[in-house]
Amino acid sequence: MLELDTSLPCGDIAQEEQLDHLDPLRHLKDDTELEGIISSDGLTRPSASVSELLTALPEQSHSVEDGLLKLSFTHRWDSPPRLLSISLVVDAAPGCGGLAWPAGQILANYLVQKGPKYIKGKTVLELGSGTGLVGLAVGALGDAKVLITDQAPLLSIMRSNVSLNNLQERVMVAELNWGSPIPADIPPPDIILAADCVYFEPAFPLLIQTLRDLSNSNTEILFCYKKRRKADKRFFTMLKKTFAWKEVSDDPNRQIYSREAITLVRLFKLKSSNGSP
Ligand SMILES: C[S@@+](CC[C@H](N)C(=O)[O-])C[C@H]1O[C@@H](n2cnc3c(N)ncnc32)[C@H](O)[C@@H]1O
Repeated sequence: MLELDTSLPCGDIAQEEQLDHLDPLRHLKDDTELEGIISSDGLTRPSASVSELLTALPEQSHSVEDGLLKLSFTHRWDSPPRLLSISLVVDAAPGCGGLAWPAGQILANYLVQKGPKYIKGKTVLELGSGTGLVGLAVGALGDAKVLITDQAPLLSIMRSNVSLNNLQERVMVAELNWGSPIPADIPPPDIILAADCVYFEPAFPLLIQTLRDLSNSNTEILFCYKKRRKADKRFFTMLKKTFAWKEVSDDPNRQIYSREAITLVRLFKLKSSNGSP
């Protein structure tokens, strides 16, 4: 077990790194952060942040029925407007990904608003899917081949959620560890999705490596993240060697979630990129 070197000045980056090493998930655990999570006990421990975020997003509502979290997104590409609902088993036991994080809900909501045309006939791959919410929402939208991916401990909850939503025909579950070679059975995606995957600094170069391995300059990449600390800036410093990005401007909810320090960007792989992250 590592011990913290208290001789380092408070706020020093080296001390921050030591703390990260001792507790990789500490940036996800502080009180304000937990307030932003909807977990299976979301109704028994309602928080200002959850209700603010959800009631602030007019196209989305949630409920807990029989221990399952049900997220409903209103879409307007059908007339009259209808609901697209996804039910989720949520469970923090396999790791932080077993909960539904706000950035995932925001990305899912954006995709639902874009509608079936946006994903029609595409291969869509989600990185760090956790419960699978974003990829499941895409699968429920329509005719796309969807892969939801994460580390081994999350695969079981993802499979349960695919079955729960009857999406076995369209949504596949695969193990994909960032920084590892892309398994041969994972096809090159047309669209890559990632929500709330910037939180653990040692994983920054691994995530960038995987984004690079999976993409070309035509790949559509939607990346939704929550800014938690100054070190997140280093992710973008690494990222810019391989990708450019632009904030998504056609999401009417953008101003609402930007108040929660959440940003949705589109990444563009640079044609000239060939170096390591
Ligand atoms: C904060 S959770 C977000 C989950 C989900 N995208 C959402 O928005 O609810 C981060 C996810 O990244 C996954 N993750 C972290 N490090 C990873 C790695 N090295 N390879 C693959 N997935 C990883 C975690 O297992 C977790 O599911």
